[in-house]
Amino acid sequence: MNISEQIIVRTIEFVKKQLHNAEAGHDWFHTERVWKLARKIAEKEPSDGLVVELAALLHDIADPKFHEGNETLALDLSREFLEKQKLENNLVEQVLFIIKNISFKNKGELTTVRPIELDIVQDADRLDAIGAIGVARTFNFGGFKNNRIYDPEIPPDLMISKEEYKKSNGTTINHFYEKLLLLKDLMNTETARTIAAGRHLFMEDFLTQFYREWNVE
Ligand code: ADP
Ligand code: NI
Repeated sequence: MNISEQIIVRTIEFVKKQLHNAEAGHDWFHTERVWKLARKIAEKEPSDGLVVELAALLHDIADPKFHEGNETLALDLSREFLEKQKLENNLVEQVLFIIKNISFKNKGELTTVRPIELDIVQDADRLDAIGAIGVARTFNFGGFKNNRIYDPEIPPDLMISKEEYKKSNGTTINHFYEKLLLLKDLMNTETARTIAAGRHLFMEDFLTQFYREWNVE
C-alpha cells in the first residue's frame, strides 16, 4: 500500500467509528456510496484524487441535524483527525473547505472560486439524495423525526429559509418539492447530470403512483 492508500484505510476506520450510532440515512453506508460515486465522477474530471476521497469520506461525520445544530463539529473533528496524519497543510485545508461548503442548506453562500473537488463530492452527495435511495433515505429521516408522510393540507414551501429548512417538521412528501426534485438541475458535472436524469424520472414515477394510491377512487 502506498501512503495515500494507507491514509484512506485509516480514514475509513475513523469514519466508521464516528458513524456507528448514526441515523440510517446518514450512516457509514451513505458515506460509502458517496465515496464510490465521487471516485466514479472523478474518473472524468481532472482533480486531486486524495482530496476527493478524503472529503467524501469525512463529509458527514457529524451532521448538525444530529448534534444539537452544532455546525462546526464535523469540521473540528475532521481537522483534528487530518492533522494527525502526515499530510501537507494545503491538502488538509482543501479537504476542510469542501466539508464546509458541500451542504444543500449552504448553497449560494460560497463566494470564492469553486474547486473541482468540491463540485465532485457535492454531486456525489446529491446523487445519493435522489432516486430509489433518495426515497428510502427521505422516508427514514421523516420517520426518525416522526413527520407525516403526506398531508394534502400542507403545501410545499419552495422559498423555505435555511432556518425553516433545518426545523424540518413539514411532511416527507413535501421534502421532494423543497429539495429532491431540484437537485438534478444543480449538478456540477456532466457525469452526475446523466446519472441524476434517470434517478429523477424514478422519483417522478414514485410520486405519480403515490398520489394514485392516496386518492382512492
Ligand atoms: P445537506 O446535508 O446536503 O444539507 P440535508 O442534510 O438537509 O442535506 O439532507 C440530507 C438528506 O436527509 C436528504 O436528502 C433527505 O433524504 C434527508 N432529509 C433532510 N431533511 C429532510 C426532511 N425535512 N424530510 C425528510 N428527509 C429529509
Ligand atoms: Ni451526505
